[in-house]
Amino acid sequence: MNTPTSDPTLQDLPDWRYLLQEYDELYRYLPAGGSDRIRSHQRKVREAISRLLKKNATVSLQPRAVKPVTAHLRRALDEGRSGTLAPVVRALDALDSHLSWQYGYEKVPKGLTNSYAYAELAGMNGPVVSDEIILGVVLFAPGCTYPAHAHKGITESYVCLSGAVSENHQGVYVPGSMIFNPPDHLHRITVGDREPALLAYAWIGEKADLHEQKMVFTRPRK
Ligand SMILES: [Fe+2]
Repeated sequence: MNTPTSDPTLQDLPDWRYLLQEYDELYRYLPAGGSDRIRSHQRKVREAISRLLKKNATVSLQPRAVKPVTAHLRRALDEGRSGTLAPVVRALDALDSHLSWQYGYEKVPKGLTNSYAYAELAGMNGPVVSDEIILGVVLFAPGCTYPAHAHKGITESYVCLSGAVSENHQGVYVPGSMIFNPPDHLHRITVGDREPALLAYAWIGEKADLHEQKMVFTRPRK
C-alpha cells in the first residue's frame, strides 16, 4: 500500500495502465498511409507512452468534472463500441467516472459551451503525469463546429473513435482514421448532424511548448 502522502502509480490503478496500453496499440497499429511524417509522429507517441509504462508513472487523479456536452458521452461510447477501435472505447468507458472534462479556454468560444469539452489522460498535471506528451479525448456534440485554431510548437494527431468529423473541409474521418496537424497548422473541425464525435488526441512537443500550451488553460491545478 502507498503511504497517504504518495500518489498512486499505473501499477496501483490498472485501468489507467490499460488505457495507456490501448493508446500505445493505436499508435502502433494504425496505418500511416505511406506518410513518413505521420509514421515518425506515431513512433514518438509510442515511445513516450512506452516510457510512461516502463517507469510506472504516477497517476495524479483529477476531480471529476462534467460539461453540458458530456450528456452525449454515453452515446459516443456506445457507438464507438461497435467500431474498429472498440478496445480503446472500452478502456475509456472503464474510467468514465474519473474523467475531468474541461473547456481549456479563458473564454469559451461562442457556441462551444454546450457542444465541446476535452479530458486529459496524460500530461504535466496528470492524470498520468508526463512532461513529454499530452494525451486526451475530445468530445463534440452533433453539428458542432470547432473553430480554426493552431498549436505553437505542438505536433498533434486526432484519432476518430466514434462518429464522423471533417477537418478544413478536406476529408471525412470515421473510427480508425487519424488526422495529423503539424505545428502552427490552422485547423477547423466540423461534426456530423446526427451523432456525437469522440476523438483521441496526442500532442508531442518540446517541454516548454507543451507547458506553454497549458498556460492558456484555466483548469485549476490540483
Ligand atoms: Fe487541435
